[in-house]
Amino acid sequence: MNKEEASQEISSLSQKINYYNDLYYQKDTSEISDFEFDKLLERLIELEKAFPELKQDDSPSQRVGGTITKNFETVNHRYPMLSLGNTYSKEDLEEFDKRVAKGLGDEPYEYFCELKFDGVALSLTYENGKLVRGVTRGDGSRGDDITNNIRTIRTVPLSLKNDTYPDFFEVRGEAFLPKEMFLKLNKEREEQGEELYANARNTASGSLKMQDSSMVAKRKLDCYLYSMIGEDIGVATHEEAILKLQSLNFNISPTFKKCKDINEVLAYIAEWETKRLDLPLDTDGIVIKVNSIHQQNKLGFTAKSPRWAIAYKYKTEAAVTLLRDITYQVGRTGAITPVAELQPVLLAGTTVKRASLHNANEIERLDIRVGDMVFVEKGGEIIPKVTHVDVSKRKSDSKPLEYITHCPECGTELVRKESEAKHYCPNKNGCPPQISGRIEHFISRRAMNIDSLGIETINILIKAQYLRNYSDLYELWRYSEELVGIEISEKSYIKEHEQPLCINLDKSLFGALNNSKVTSNQIEGLLRNLNIIELGDLLALRESQDLLPLSNKQRLDLLSFIRFLNSNKALINTNNGLSISIIFKYLFNLSQLEFEIIDSISKHCSSIYDLFKNLKVENSEIFNSLNRDLEDKSLALSIQKLKNTTLQEKSIKTMIDGIELSKEQPFEKVLFALGIPFIGETSAKLITKRFSNIDSLMNADRDQLLDIDGVGEIMADSVLSFFRDNENRAIINSLKANGLNFSSSSEESTISNVLSGMKILTSGTLEGYKRDEFIKLVESHGGEYVKSVSKKLSFIVAGEDMGPSKRAKAEKDGIKIISESEFLELINN
Ligand code: IVH
Repeated sequence: MNKEEASQEISSLSQKINYYNDLYYQKDTSEISDFEFDKLLERLIELEKAFPELKQDDSPSQRVGGTITKNFETVNHRYPMLSLGNTYSKEDLEEFDKRVAKGLGDEPYEYFCELKFDGVALSLTYENGKLVRGVTRGDGSRGDDITNNIRTIRTVPLSLKNDTYPDFFEVRGEAFLPKEMFLKLNKEREEQGEELYANARNTASGSLKMQDSSMVAKRKLDCYLYSMIGEDIGVATHEEAILKLQSLNFNISPTFKKCKDINEVLAYIAEWETKRLDLPLDTDGIVIKVNSIHQQNKLGFTAKSPRWAIAYKYKTEAAVTLLRDITYQVGRTGAITPVAELQPVLLAGTTVKRASLHNANEIERLDIRVGDMVFVEKGGEIIPKVTHVDVSKRKSDSKPLEYITHCPECGTELVRKESEAKHYCPNKNGCPPQISGRIEHFISRRAMNIDSLGIETINILIKAQYLRNYSDLYELWRYSEELVGIEISEKSYIKEHEQPLCINLDKSLFGALNNSKVTSNQIEGLLRNLNIIELGDLLALRESQDLLPLSNKQRLDLLSFIRFLNSNKALINTNNGLSISIIFKYLFNLSQLEFEIIDSISKHCSSIYDLFKNLKVENSEIFNSLNRDLEDKSLALSIQKLKNTTLQEKSIKTMIDGIELSKEQPFEKVLFALGIPFIGETSAKLITKRFSNIDSLMNADRDQLLDIDGVGEIMADSVLSFFRDNENRAIINSLKANGLNFSSSSEESTISNVLSGMKILTSGTLEGYKRDEFIKLVESHGGEYVKSVSKKLSFIVAGEDMGPSKRAKAEKDGIKIISESEFLELINN
């Protein structure tokens, strides 16, 4: 293809792509499939690569990024980016209105209202219809030039369609990460065991500062524009400017409204107070602007903000509640997240019981202590956050919280790397939530896709020591017979295999309850009925002589409570006051004699399970009477449910068949399933494209990994350290032995065997291949790519600029040097 033909095809492809883009992003329709669209884009990128001089700045290929900017250039804003004054009440707004009226003398005026978008402020400059620069707000007078990243935002026009625009103008607006994309991104991060992003705004801001614009493109940012600035833009009102921007294809939120007076403004505020929650992005208020540009100029600016506009901020919904406890969650990667356990409180329509405290720094920053009254807010965050403590309500003897030093799940001493905010439990192979988290990830739909067993079964199989890691899944068939009858419900009444563990009864009950996935509703119900908030209160009841008999409902609830304690491997510690016998007294209306017998037996028991065993043996009469009680209809029903929750032959077969089927999953899924920190679905795909089997990946060095487009330092180091770990290597060997796919399917990767047994290296830049493409090529013809010059080399493929010293060394060692075209000839014959 000659240059002229290429130029024609590039321009026709660009036109088509722009047309489809426009249809998709502006009109929400599509005339071709995603696949066809991608093909057009791929072809365009291919041609632009072959003819770089033909690539236009406004080419739609810019949308997929591909540029790396190490340091963004700081540039001066032609017009400073000011901020707005804030108001929070009707009175403030009326004051603003009075100031406007006064400033304009007797002139009539009107307002234009918009929502206040909570994103990242941007300024975009268009010259002769083309986007030439995109800059962040920075300090208002200077910002960062992030043009290449902004070009990846699909709704930002790279060039303007019709010719009704001024030669030079600036548009301003807010870039944002749509809520939906934010949730999706966080879900992916959760699945990969990575720390979640706190809110969409910060994520958008971080995304726009990424060095690799192709990574920015993947974030699918969007942008709403809300002002047009220039010397002579030919509009008399802000409304006209907005409509003009709309006609030029800029993305304008359709939420604006012209208001004839401040009362209409107030109505607009009321209208959007809740409606705004359904918008695709977070908003934190509205912006009220004087509509006439002439009047705007007349009113002018203060040093910081315009006199013709103001922001009205909606109140962030906040509530005050009691911090009952701080518990600690252990994630799949061992990361510890402290959680505030709150007295339930109504906030923005939902009951809030828990809030994330992120890490030890956050606890220190808030100086938050159990027993404090705390303020919780629900802003752009998905989980409510504790903003501050009401120190005035704090008891004088309260002490600063001491962060845990040992894992709450397995007792191992926690570690904290210098550069990281989180503490980690290093016991990755012995800490139950880490093991179950990894197995859960392994079987998930996007990894090994084993849907024949769920997390409950996994937990039971871990406790019963059938599973220690995901490779044990493939050994389960050996135990098919043994597994029959194993209880798969966490709510099990008695579990023989359990080692009792001590619950600290001084802690608030809710802290303990929240570790349970199953029973908190019932317990809450019970405690509400009994007016009991903490175990201390329950103990106080013990003192009271005047005990009312419990209703059946209450007994059932209490029974759940016992089950909860039992399923949490709880030892009801008699020394601590709350004895099993007391619970039994409530539960079964025991006579004083019965109570005393149980009380004395329970003193020698370490768990409820123990007690049952002893009751059975030592006092069958009491046990029978308990059983009679259990026959009470509602109790019997719930016991029957428990009986239904054991593994049976049929379910075991289904489970094992599902596991067997997963062996068909391709290498990229297996690699993702391994759960290497920071290696998500996409990076696993990229890695398996470059390394067609696990052995070459396990032997790869840092540079080879970094060579892969889309793999950065953190990922490369994570891969290296994962494969360095002996335990991981052993697990991989066992998975291999069980027949999982650890190489890309042969049809895909093997083209010929002409290079079989050869060790090959390239030096210098090749014309047709990047290094990783070349390595792939060598491997697809059966050869092995090696990293350094040695006598074992079959030959070196020399690029144009192979260094003279390397050449001299190779020649001295008698290694053959061939050219790129000779190499191609070799493999093509
Ligand atoms: S007009 C002189 N309109 O709020 C500033 N700003 O505190 C005129 N913002 O930096 C800005 N939504 O980032 C305007 N509809 C809207 C807005 C908006 C959000 C942001 C903007 C600005 C900040 C002002």
